[in-house]
Amino acid sequence: MALMDWSDKLDVGVDNMNHQHKKILSLMNNLYEAFEQNKEFDQFISILDELKDFTIKHFAEEEAYMESINFEGIQVHKGIHQQLLEKFTSNYQTITSERKLTQEFFDFLKFWLSSHIQGIDIKYGKGLVNKNVAV
Ligand SMILES: [Fe+2]
Ligand SMILES: [Fe+2]
Repeated sequence: MALMDWSDKLDVGVDNMNHQHKKILSLMNNLYEAFEQNKEFDQFISILDELKDFTIKHFAEEEAYMESINFEGIQVHKGIHQQLLEKFTSNYQTITSERKLTQEFFDFLKFWLSSHIQGIDIKYGKGLVNKNVAV
């Protein structure tokens, strides 16, 4: 079963960011599938590492994008990314030291996807519309 499926609610109105969000969603789903199938821990780790690296890259690109459109909410958004990365890193450390994934970790990932993308990322897409900047 997938942790979460893509839906139009996750559409932020910026193609490149939608692509990156889809990639994050698919990595999270791969990780969840491995968790449900009780795969070896080493198999989780390679997916988890990919998710970590891609997320760091995504946050940097998203911040560069917001800067390029002079999005006024950029500083708040950067702060939220920082908090998400800290939470992710602390979960990552627990997972690697205990060598197991937990349902709580997936609840965090799901919260991140549904709440951050739908509640926060969506704002730079709307910002674009409000400023009448061509997409
Ligand atoms: Fe974001
Ligand atoms: Fe994002």
